[in-house]
Amino acid sequence: MSGPLPPRTLTEVNVYAEQIRPRLLDAAMRHEALAEIRGRVCADLRGDVVKIGYGTGLNHPYLPPAVQGIWAVEPSRTALRMAAPRRAAARTPVIDAGSDAQRTDLPDDRFDAAVSTFTMCGIPDVAAALAEVARVLRPGGSLSFVEHGLAPEERVRRRQRRLNRVNLPLAGCLLDRDVPALVAAAGLRMVTLNAYYHPRFPRSLGHLYEGRAEKPAQAV
Ligand SMILES: C[S@@+](CC[C@H](N)C(=O)[O-])C[C@H]1O[C@@H](n2cnc3c(N)ncnc32)[C@H](O)[C@@H]1O
Repeated sequence: MSGPLPPRTLTEVNVYAEQIRPRLLDAAMRHEALAEIRGRVCADLRGDVVKIGYGTGLNHPYLPPAVQGIWAVEPSRTALRMAAPRRAAARTPVIDAGSDAQRTDLPDDRFDAAVSTFTMCGIPDVAAALAEVARVLRPGGSLSFVEHGLAPEERVRRRQRRLNRVNLPLAGCLLDRDVPALVAAAGLRMVTLNAYYHPRFPRSLGHLYEGRAEKPAQAV
């Protein structure tokens, strides 16, 4: 048969996003090169912790005993189903905390920490999600994160912009988010930030931002 292919139907797009993409992301996110990073990012977590983009629960092995509970925000039912065995085996209780980090029902000033690992790239209004994180953290609470994002060189940024056209429908994420600027715009104060190219990944997707940002203590 020749001629143009029929346009993809909404059902095909939904089946891909709901069934196939979470499985592909789980496989990508299990990359052994990420284990050490997850360990570093989770090391300082304490108390009650909000996890934006809980995914398939891959951070559980890295959560220190000082974490009392994980409030999981995750839209993908498939990812949550895939997380079930990891969640059942984990010593940390998991509380379902909604499906959209852009808008949650969580109370103000409640949480000791929040964590985001490779999630800011895929939230449509990530500024709104980070404003939610800032809202629900207690003063002095902090967001620990590792994200891929905007590269320092214009040459790589151009490639990131070009690849966004493929990466967004395929992986559901953008390659060129300016993570430090987004975190700062949410009113969080950067405490540590390490920006680097991971040697195991192409530069367009391997420019990582790893760090911790704090909600300032309220003015007296
Ligand atoms: C690349 S995966 C990373 C998953 C997990 N954080 C990890 O490190 O393995 C991105 C996750 O963000 C989730 N996500 C997308 N939009 C979201 C939203 N609006 N609120 C919360 N999570 C979202 C996706 O469903 C997906 O599970």
